[in-house]
Amino acid sequence: MTYPNARETEEAHYARYYARKPVTIVRGRGSLLYDDNGGEYIDCTGAYGACIVGHAHPKVAQAISDQAKMLIACHGSTYNDARARFVSRLSTILPNHLNRLFLSNSGAEAVECAIKVARKSTGRRKIIAVKGAFHGKTHGALSATWDAKYRKNFEPLVPGFVHIPFDNHEAAKETITNDTAAVFIEPVQGEGGIRVPSKEWLSLLDDLVHDAGGLLVADEIQTGFGRTGRMFAFEHADVKPDILCLGKGIASGLPIGLTAAAEGTMSSLSVGEHTTTFGGNPVVCAAGSATINVLLDEGLVDNAAKVGDYFKTGLGQLMDNHKIVREVRGLGLMLAAEMRFDVHGIITNALSGGVLVLDAGRNILRFLPPLCIETQQVDRVLAVLGRILEQEELAKLPS
Ligand SMILES: Cc1ncc(COP(=O)(O)O)c(C=O)c1O
Repeated sequence: MTYPNARETEEAHYARYYARKPVTIVRGRGSLLYDDNGGEYIDCTGAYGACIVGHAHPKVAQAISDQAKMLIACHGSTYNDARARFVSRLSTILPNHLNRLFLSNSGAEAVECAIKVARKSTGRRKIIAVKGAFHGKTHGALSATWDAKYRKNFEPLVPGFVHIPFDNHEAAKETITNDTAAVFIEPVQGEGGIRVPSKEWLSLLDDLVHDAGGLLVADEIQTGFGRTGRMFAFEHADVKPDILCLGKGIASGLPIGLTAAAEGTMSSLSVGEHTTTFGGNPVVCAAGSATINVLLDEGLVDNAAKVGDYFKTGLGQLMDNHKIVREVRGLGLMLAAEMRFDVHGIITNALSGGVLVLDAGRNILRFLPPLCIETQQVDRVLAVLGRILEQEELAKLPS
């Protein structure tokens, strides 16, 4: 039975760290979510990108339930069959050269592991990240994150981090030097506003850091596992990451982080230097194996490319019809519409119209729907947005 007064209860007890939408979600199926009054929503947030194969996919739910009846807790200090199955399944979709994996519980932890591996394996300290980057909010990951609103009250952060301007060739050439341990990239910046860097700049970073003897770290926590219409977003460019950070959707919404690197790089950390109690949890691993199966069996990476193009074209038409839309950008089902104004009102009105949508900064609408979203559902989203933009335009741009 649904817990009554969920909103009031959370308000009374839970830390006020999230900007909340006034809705209590109790159920989901595919790209649809339902509230405690039975109201239906098309989910364009995908639980912040953590729902890739659709909500409560029956095959994933079955795998979780089967595993929970067998074994729920199993520390990494013993072997486990569900974990073995998952890492073996992962190795079939990860790039061949990234053949050593470490499992943790969140994206930020995947980044923490990458920072330690990069520093220890190179013997260097300097980490280069990009202006606008988001890599998480734990202290190490936060040091690579750019936005002052997340950083300023927690300084001093971890020393040795430098940020270079996005898509700027000269700054990259000046900053990537032979004391650089690693360059961290998001192949598409997510929280920073769905910014797609040029392929040339990504290739330049790859060349520069490898010539300098450092490592290229691709943070694909938001872009990975099909989100951009390829299994990994770095595949859109000619780059070869030495470390891959993953998370979000690969266990269908159960907590996970994953760091992958070549044997020689990963093994620079010795036994005990980096562990976590829950990493490689059997239930999460069972969900992960089932998620990979669904992702491949249902052709969801291709669906992300196809429906993503359709969605982007539709958003482009909204831009043609509404001056309030400044730009539409993104790859696959990682899309943004940048507005000329604050998007808060649009998000609230979309919710009333049965569409859940995210922001990425003050004036950017972000769309990260499950990769199984259908074109008819996209049509409904576009129709709702079209109506809202018309009203917004009348209110904000009187002719
Ligand atoms: C690119 C990127 N890196 C790291 C993170 C942090 O992941 P988590 O919130 O699971 O710690 C995020 C989360 O949005 C992300 O988008």
